[in-house]
Amino acid sequence: MQYRRDLASPMSEFLGVLVLCGILYFGGQLVLGGNAGGLTDKGFIMYIGIFTQIISPAKALSTSFYNMQKGTAAIARIEEVLQAPVMVEEAADPKPIGSFEHAIEFKNVGFAYDDVTILKNINLKIEKGKTLALVGSSGAGKSTLADLVPRFHDVSTGELLIDGINIKDYSLNQLRGLMGIVTQEPILFNDTIANNITLGIDNATPEAIEQAAKIANAHNFILQKEAGYQTNIGDRGGKLSGGERQRMTIARAVLKNPPILILDEATSSLDTESERLVQDAINNLMNNRTSLVIAHRLSTIRHADEIIVLQKGEIVERGTHDGLIAQNGFYKKLVDMQEVR
Ligand SMILES: Nc1ncnc2c1ncn2[C@@H]1O[C@H](COP(=O)(O)OP(=O)(O)OP(=O)(O)O)[C@@H](O)[C@H]1O
Ligand SMILES: [Mg+2]
Repeated sequence: MQYRRDLASPMSEFLGVLVLCGILYFGGQLVLGGNAGGLTDKGFIMYIGIFTQIISPAKALSTSFYNMQKGTAAIARIEEVLQAPVMVEEAADPKPIGSFEHAIEFKNVGFAYDDVTILKNINLKIEKGKTLALVGSSGAGKSTLADLVPRFHDVSTGELLIDGINIKDYSLNQLRGLMGIVTQEPILFNDTIANNITLGIDNATPEAIEQAAKIANAHNFILQKEAGYQTNIGDRGGKLSGGERQRMTIARAVLKNPPILILDEATSSLDTESERLVQDAINNLMNNRTSLVIAHRLSTIRHADEIIVLQKGEIVERGTHDGLIAQNGFYKKLVDMQEVR
């Protein structure tokens, strides 16, 4: 399309001039040749004047044709997104859920991508105010399990209940409104630091943003940026370091102040010092909240109320840190390996 458009302009000018030359030559002969065709000189000049007026609308026509083509190409791509099948559907008559009161409960939950089973027979209960930790090797299904709570996927078998009601019956928007999620991969946009922190919150004051950033241990590094909170962080936060990105998403969760917190490997790619900063930020955040925490560094979940060990999508061990150490099983092995490092 670009090629044709670029060609259209010189081409139409060239043709326009060519036609004008032809007309000048032919009309000139008629006028000069003794008025044989019945054309006066005044009439001819007027004719040429009107003719030149036609050239620009004729060119506009070719441009509009080009724009139409461009639109068709774009709409095909937009429709692909708009018409992508909805995997998680809201109930026809959704129940409102304004607050979280008692517990999140997994009952015999199983999950499969297409026909690959990822999770089997998961039975869990997270009481309000408690912290549940998930550990297990890479690919065990920890992130998948956590994604079921905000309904990023729906369970394939079994039920997931919040306060005794299946989460499929709740309003999706309100359900997710109860949760703050710090994902394994920070989700950031090409925008200012302030706008990334307030994502999804309509009326945050600058003071509230700053307060959240302080709790997340992000305030100091933000002040060092050239434009402070108005600094643009680039595509997917590319202008920030890994630890800075994570603290941004923690600040976002702090600002939202949700009753339920889901933390996925929030300290994965950090050096010891920034890990401590992020860990402190997370501890600040987890105070008095119900949380589901996924961690590879076991030191970070030592004080969880219950630790669940997942292996190949199944719960193989569960208990408190001390209880699991006493069991001398998989968890003990993981802890030993990390202490050697
Ligand atoms: N969109 C998907 N389609 C198909 N399979 C997937 C998809 N996402 C994840 N899986 C598979 O599901 C399994 C569990 O993945 P999950 O992300 O839950 O692991 P994890 O326990 O969080 O691992 P890690 O500790 O590395 O983050 C993996 O085997 C993965 O390959
Ligand atoms: Mg994961």
